[in-house]
Amino acid sequence: MKFAPISDRLSGLGAAKWAVHVEGLRRGALGKSVIMLSIGEPDLPPPANVIERAAKSMRSGRTRYSAGQGEPAALRAIAAHLTRRSGLEVTPDQVLYTAGTQNGLCTALFTLVQSGDEVLVPDPYYATYEGLVAASGATFVPVPTSPEHAFHVTAEAIERAITPRTRVLLLNTPSNPTGAVLSQSEVDAIGEVCERHDLWIICDEVYADITFDAPFCSPFDRPQLRHRTLAVSSISKSHGLPGFRAGWVASPAEVTPRLTLVAEAMLFGSQPFIQDALVVALSETHPEVTRLRDAFRERAHALVNAFEGSTAVTARMPEGGMFIMCDIRATGLTGEQFAWRLIEDEGVVVMPGESFGIGGAGHIRVALTVDSSILVEACTRIRRLAAKIVEEKS
Ligand SMILES: Cc1ncc(COP(=O)(O)O)c(C=O)c1O
Repeated sequence: MKFAPISDRLSGLGAAKWAVHVEGLRRGALGKSVIMLSIGEPDLPPPANVIERAAKSMRSGRTRYSAGQGEPAALRAIAAHLTRRSGLEVTPDQVLYTAGTQNGLCTALFTLVQSGDEVLVPDPYYATYEGLVAASGATFVPVPTSPEHAFHVTAEAIERAITPRTRVLLLNTPSNPTGAVLSQSEVDAIGEVCERHDLWIICDEVYADITFDAPFCSPFDRPQLRHRTLAVSSISKSHGLPGFRAGWVASPAEVTPRLTLVAEAMLFGSQPFIQDALVVALSETHPEVTRLRDAFRERAHALVNAFEGSTAVTARMPEGGMFIMCDIRATGLTGEQFAWRLIEDEGVVVMPGESFGIGGAGHIRVALTVDSSILVEACTRIRRLAAKIVEEKS
């Protein structure tokens, strides 16, 4: 029997990246003491009234099929949320409801690209992006960034990577893994390059509500870029509800029917009771959302303070998101080698920077998803190991 090449393209893109994490889970299941800082799952409770709404809706019979584009109330709530954010009007016909950001990104890529096209992605990048682009058939083209420039991608680097086959720039701000938040002037400069080369911009904004001091700016909120931008997000991170699989793609109105056709081929509608809960999530203010953002900020500060004075491991305050990249290049190890030694010697589980592209080399990514006291204990162990390795070298 024959298979289509999609699963061949995807095989081998996933497992190796997560090997340290999987080993951490295995050790935890055996009852060994491990501090897991490898995965980006918000650890604080979601808004109680959002959960309540989902339960009530389910009980009241909102369990039937839904429209492919999404329930009208959910589309209105997403459009209003995005309008409030920028002041630039978004209408429900510009919104597709999706089963989370990942599903939204997949829908967007399937709608815009095919085999032979190229998709530009700033490196380091979120670990699923290679698979997403490979699934679409297009070619993944990493665009280098540097730790010395706080991993901010530049318009010049993007322009250098463009070929006649380039169709899409896939941005992620705030970034996982780097915490970089693009400023308005960076977005405008990048947008100007996309305008000149007629590229679509897909912006993964799943951490839009988790910024610290740098304000969030989406190309979708810039009037001159909206016609070429698809903004993709969800309530997974902002509201601590990744299991709800509730998100959206906002786009120019003429794109929505095309996105909807692709979404219908995959899912043909999402759960109405979850969409009702999303309406509550986006239309009301919730102390839990503020608490979540404040916790990530406080933990990031605690981590940066814990490494102060160390030359073996350093970290700078992220501008947003749920992660910190820690620079361990002084140890002479790769991020991967360091992560394996860290689990072995100190029982701390982090992601190797290389799991997010070669741009992450010599770094480890730490998730800010545990209490500050545990995080500081993990930092003490990371610092101790880094110092030991530097000493062994000399
Ligand atoms: C950058 C980025 N995009 C997308 C996702 C997936 O989000 P969702 O749960 O909305 O599918 C994640 C989850 O970690 C992420 O870090």
